[in-house]
Amino acid sequence: MSNTFAPLKNDTFLRALLRQETEYTPLWLMRQAGRYLPEYRATRKGAGSFMSLAKNPDFATEVTIQPLDRFKLDAAILFSDILTVPDAMGLGLYFEEGEGPKFERPLKDEKAIMALEVPPEGSLQYVFDAVTQIRKTLDGRVPLIGFSGSPWTLACYMVEGQGSREFHGIKAMMYKRPDLLERILTLNAEAVATYLNAQIDAGAQAVMIFDSWGGALADGAYQRFSLKYMQDIVNKLQREKDGQRIPCIVFTKGGGLWLEQIADIGADALGLDWTVNLGQARARVGDKVALQGNLDPAVLFAEPEQIRQQVTAALQSYGKPSAGHGHVFNLGHGISQFTSPDAVTVLVETVHEVSRQQRQA
Ligand code: CP3
Repeated sequence: MSNTFAPLKNDTFLRALLRQETEYTPLWLMRQAGRYLPEYRATRKGAGSFMSLAKNPDFATEVTIQPLDRFKLDAAILFSDILTVPDAMGLGLYFEEGEGPKFERPLKDEKAIMALEVPPEGSLQYVFDAVTQIRKTLDGRVPLIGFSGSPWTLACYMVEGQGSREFHGIKAMMYKRPDLLERILTLNAEAVATYLNAQIDAGAQAVMIFDSWGGALADGAYQRFSLKYMQDIVNKLQREKDGQRIPCIVFTKGGGLWLEQIADIGADALGLDWTVNLGQARARVGDKVALQGNLDPAVLFAEPEQIRQQVTAALQSYGKPSAGHGHVFNLGHGISQFTSPDAVTVLVETVHEVSRQQRQA
């Protein structure tokens, strides 16, 4: 497939991921398009549901652009969800009002697991259509990030049928029938690699793997059941498109203990949650990867001056940027729906301003 897109006007985000020099620290926010924005809530109301937003490229484009029209963010992220992949595998994703995502047909028994297959050709075309339309609409404003869940994180939802605090079902399977779990993970890894490569073909300029539940695993289990499959994906990703490097970000929430190992799987950047000190993380991974993160999303509930202090402290903990290192500012997890958009304005302005000063000092 060949698309011609406008050249980038702001490539700061991509340069930071590739550990090249930048004039300031770029930022975007996980879940930057979402319920904390009144304009998102209005569009969602018109569309009827989250899935009807995600499945319609016009709506998906509209809500992807909304946060960019309000804040000087340095990247856009595709509006979709990690659970579209298991949905396309036939599990039947749905959202109940006021509750998280659920599956109509979770993987309840061995029979269901043996019958599982990668998504049929065409079943995720709506996502790729959205990517292309968003990229065209962006017109080179900022780069577009594509994303997927990690095989383990997807499996958590596929087996439990919904979010969970303890993951008893999937963890029981992991210890009792690792062969069954490995079958799911192998299929997920294959599906995700194909999915991300198709997003890249459709116009995604960077990709991110969300391993939201990797941190629930024991040491040893993490490497075997989560990290290994992310490595398989990274190995299969196309890393260049039309002469441009396509950086890949891996984010294990709760993965602070394993940073050195995550830095070794060949991704360009590591996402960090808020439990990690940025400077220490930088020292641990050296110049192998760029870092992305990691302000506690709850900081945005504080007063403007306190937000400025916390953001400045985070930038200072990373230290003075230098060639060979890269930092993309972000939250340590998705922005809360209860955040005031004004708090985000303070955050964005502070990151840009203070990080420029840092480079001059
Ligand atoms: O970051 C972005 O702005 C892009 C869009 C995006 C969404 N979900 C939209 C969404 C991304 C990158 C995701 C990733 C995602 N989805 C993850 C990984 C990141 C993480 O948070 O750990 C996970 C675990 C999911 C699964 C999921 N989808 C959950 C747990 C929920 C409910 C929680 C919530 O915030 O409501 C969703 C729904 C969802 N995905 C919403 C959005 C904007 C809210 C839906 C709504 O409008 O009601």
